[in-house]
Amino acid sequence: MSETGEISSILNEQRLFSPSVGFSENSQIGDLETYRNIWNYSKNDPEGFWGRKAEEMLDWFQPWTKVLEWDEPHAKWFTGGRINASYNCLDRHVKSYRRNKAAIIWEGEPGDKRTLTYQQLLNEVCRCANAMKSLGVKKGDRVTIYLPLTPELSIATLACARIGAIHSVVFAGFSSHALAERNNDAESKLIITADGGWRKGAITPLKQNVDECLAESPTVENVIVLKRTGQDITMQPGRDHWWHDVVDSKSHICEALPLDSEHPLFLLYTSGSTGKPKGILHTTGGYLLGATLSTKFVFDLKENDVFWCTADVGWITGHSYLVYGPLSNGATTFMYEGAPNFPDAGRFWKMIETYQINTFYTAPTAIRAFLKAGSQWPNSYDLSSLRLLGTVGEPINPEAWMWYREVIGGNRCPIVDTWWQTETGSIMITPLPGSTPTVPGSATLPFFGVVPEIVDANGKPVPVGSGGYLTIKQPWPSMLRTIHGDDERYKRTYWSKFPGRYFTGDGARMDKNGYYWIMGRIDDVINVSGHRLSTMEVESALVSHPSVAEAAVVGIPHEIKGEAIVCFVSLDSYAERDEALEDTLKSHVTEQIGALARPESIRIAETLPKTRSGKIMRRLLRDVASGRDSGGDISTLEDTQSLESLR
Ligand code: WTA
Repeated sequence: MSETGEISSILNEQRLFSPSVGFSENSQIGDLETYRNIWNYSKNDPEGFWGRKAEEMLDWFQPWTKVLEWDEPHAKWFTGGRINASYNCLDRHVKSYRRNKAAIIWEGEPGDKRTLTYQQLLNEVCRCANAMKSLGVKKGDRVTIYLPLTPELSIATLACARIGAIHSVVFAGFSSHALAERNNDAESKLIITADGGWRKGAITPLKQNVDECLAESPTVENVIVLKRTGQDITMQPGRDHWWHDVVDSKSHICEALPLDSEHPLFLLYTSGSTGKPKGILHTTGGYLLGATLSTKFVFDLKENDVFWCTADVGWITGHSYLVYGPLSNGATTFMYEGAPNFPDAGRFWKMIETYQINTFYTAPTAIRAFLKAGSQWPNSYDLSSLRLLGTVGEPINPEAWMWYREVIGGNRCPIVDTWWQTETGSIMITPLPGSTPTVPGSATLPFFGVVPEIVDANGKPVPVGSGGYLTIKQPWPSMLRTIHGDDERYKRTYWSKFPGRYFTGDGARMDKNGYYWIMGRIDDVINVSGHRLSTMEVESALVSHPSVAEAAVVGIPHEIKGEAIVCFVSLDSYAERDEALEDTLKSHVTEQIGALARPESIRIAETLPKTRSGKIMRRLLRDVASGRDSGGDISTLEDTQSLESLR
């Protein structure tokens, strides 16, 4: 994809896999015609469709008066309705035959194990909610959650939802600086963290990061600290409280607050095309409906399934498919704390065998890493419990898709390649496993209620087979409502490029069967191991180093990560250029953002190639970084010498 905006599409995949008769017969949507009928109904009468689903799938304290109020680009869903997400994920199941069913089955990286039934989970959530209340947290307050992937992570999010506090989960791999930035934007009163988390046998010093963050975060009044790794940490009396002191002693009863359907449920920060992360705001009723409905149909959920989504709750995938979607459906969700290759590349497969996992939902980057580690790892375990596989986060290359199907799925399990975003809240384009024939690399067809269209730069639909910008034509319940504190940016980013449409930021093409092929971001966002990063964010991290004068960051294709970060920097005239500088700068970026942003390589140049108007020519840098000859136009380049020196 080039900076001039033209998008070319080259994938040409012919293999087609239909669901087996056995799978279709036992699935919720067993043929393509049924899917099409429901989709057409949802498109032609969205309010009828969503109103019916909201009634069928969720418990409301008070019914809504209007399904949708649409004042573009602001949507209100189920206005007048009162609901609580935590009630829907817990209480209603506790009142049913599911009371003693496992809600969460968890394994820690060191091998410790826990299972929480719906009743037990409800009790813990209530205790945590009561602890937050005792620390002065009220409806509408923001709470930052910075925890390892333990049951407490789900407990804390549901406890916020229970009392109407707005959670902002920050992935535990982010640095103290990144945490402070998000925490300050949200103006959180409370941080919930742990002493540390386990990753590849080592400890991530979470509390220490929080301490550093607090030096820059004036709004925080209290910190709750879960004891997980047990190393020495500093606890500031009056401000820092151990989880086992403030939570365990509280009552296990805490009524779920009936909240307005549009009450904010959470903020989740994601990268955009500027250096400042965006606090994506999701609200209660609509989000919960999107998560609940998609979990049930995309994963063809069965009462006895053990459902494993490998994402961390620090990302939207974890919010929707580890916490809200499965629990709202009364499913059993499996959670694993640590690294996929610890102590060896068989860890995931061993857990699939042990827990008899039925549905496995992971990211292409993980699949590529497993492919590289070798089939002998999965082949030494019994994976026959698997019924369904899923992927999310980035385009999956057909080679990885085929390996996933053959080696993990035993040629038996359908694969759902699900396209969606932090902003969309739930899955948007996806096969339905019992009805949609799949093609490696295609996310196939829109989910119910989702009306995508691919357009050119002028907003005109493009012909079948041509690449263009992926837009969504109708509002949907789990769409983001705004960017926290910056509604202008919300309008500008998503609704101004193509008036009347939501712009996804992705390029795509549709083939003659109506299947969608996602081609990746067309803005300054790169996708490293399925994690969204803004090139600007990395650039501002680099220029915050005293030696760096200017920085330009590009993504280049990478065998496992999908994309890798390559940085071009020019140095301040006083800077010492020594051997260690590249490593120093890599570590600096890691400290500023987190290990997920560690650059693959840093290239130091005299100057960066710029247009006459002073814009850095990233297209050229991308070519240089990936070793391509710049076939492109360099007539606007001010100083051709700079390009030569970079080569
Ligand atoms: C990319 C993750 C191709 C896309 C749920 C999107 C995908 C961004 C797919 C959102 C997929 C996600 N095929 N690309 N199946 N799923 N993407 O917000 O570029 O972390 O815009 O949400 O990931 O990333 P986010």
